[in-house]
Amino acid sequence: MKLNIHTDRLLAELRHLARITDCAQNEDKSLLPPTQAVTRIVFTPRDLEARAWLKSLAKAAGFSVREDAVGNTFMRWEGSEPALGVVGTGSHTDAIPHAGMYDGTVGVLGGLEALRSLKEAGFAPKRSLELLMFTSEEPTRFGIGCLGSRLLGGVMDPQAADQLRDRLHETDPNVAEGLSLHEVREAAGFHGALGSVRLPPHYYSAWVELHIEQGPLLERDNVELGIVTNIAAPASYRYTVEGAGGHAGALLMPDRHDALCAAAELILSVERHALAANANAKAEGQGGVDTVATVGMVAVHPGAVNSVPSRVTLTLDIRDTDVARRDSVMDALHADIQEMERRRGVRVIEELINADQPAHSDPHIIAALEAACQEENATFRRMASRAYHDTNFIAPIAPVAMLFIPCRNGVSHRPDEYATPEAIVLGTRVLAQTLAKLAMA
Ligand code: GLV
Ligand code: MN
Ligand code: MN
Repeated sequence: MKLNIHTDRLLAELRHLARITDCAQNEDKSLLPPTQAVTRIVFTPRDLEARAWLKSLAKAAGFSVREDAVGNTFMRWEGSEPALGVVGTGSHTDAIPHAGMYDGTVGVLGGLEALRSLKEAGFAPKRSLELLMFTSEEPTRFGIGCLGSRLLGGVMDPQAADQLRDRLHETDPNVAEGLSLHEVREAAGFHGALGSVRLPPHYYSAWVELHIEQGPLLERDNVELGIVTNIAAPASYRYTVEGAGGHAGALLMPDRHDALCAAAELILSVERHALAANANAKAEGQGGVDTVATVGMVAVHPGAVNSVPSRVTLTLDIRDTDVARRDSVMDALHADIQEMERRRGVRVIEELINADQPAHSDPHIIAALEAACQEENATFRRMASRAYHDTNFIAPIAPVAMLFIPCRNGVSHRPDEYATPEAIVLGTRVLAQTLAKLAMA
């Protein structure tokens, strides 16, 4: 099918969305093209503004809009056989603090443009096509990523989800402390029981998410598109290290139980074991880069120049394509923590936030993506996703796959994240051709 992807429209919409940000002042004009730092945290006024604008675009394109109790937003193009399983595409529009303008948004606005281009080409789908904007792919506000998709896929207990606590007050003193997800979503206008969010079995016949790679491989190897075969399994933890505080001048060094020094050991232990896991994998002839572990947030109490830290909280994000290897890194970390607790006289409390399974793509959807790449003369390769995506949590209930476009220097979760217009348009075109095939299957 010959498709006309409106490059100007799509890029203008990406730029418009990028300007709905809580850090408008941070545009870096010294970079070419200038970057827009994006902070758009779920259920903040900026997030609600972005949602309203997106819904208006979908309605203008003739799609019906439905929102569920957590704010997942479905934009539907009814097929000629609406009782059949739906073909879905989409991604997220929320953004971590000081992010770029392409993570998630390319899959939402590219998905919208893909559907519009099919409509404008006169395509008449047999199966209904739906664009989905997920709530809170990013963990910033409630501490856990992919909140909306976990509930859709039945991967998270709805009652427990509703009791998740708002963590924004930890970084923004203007936010009230400790409201529940239930309270925050009600205030944002999303009502009803979270149990109703779960999709019925066989809701989707196929699911495809378009996303920037967020890594360097496509650009480095000069390949236009990536077809994702599997998504690495993420896990995350929160640690509280309890020591003893005191006067920075008067508390003698031999008498200290400094919580921050203990936390520093913990952080370096994480890094050491992740590196060792990769080295072992490499020695066994595997890639040797698939274990990644990050401590991205540390809060020190009481946080004064002249006070020995008595308590530290920190987060750990660890991912691997191999769950057993991820678990072995955690086992090694636990042994180090126990030894350190004894040696330093501190206490370490671990809270598991999530430990997920990897996702595997469906061979039929991979075949449809590859056929679409060939039709559009696009070069492509199969690859793993090391970032997690909402597709992880659609995978338990539907056949899934993902399509990646390159991003400059593999950079993501930074204001200088960048994908070329050509890559965005090609990804959108191949997505549209793939959705067309799946909608007639
Ligand atoms: C998604 O944003 C991730 O952290 O992989
Ligand atoms: Mn992200
Ligand atoms: Mn993303």
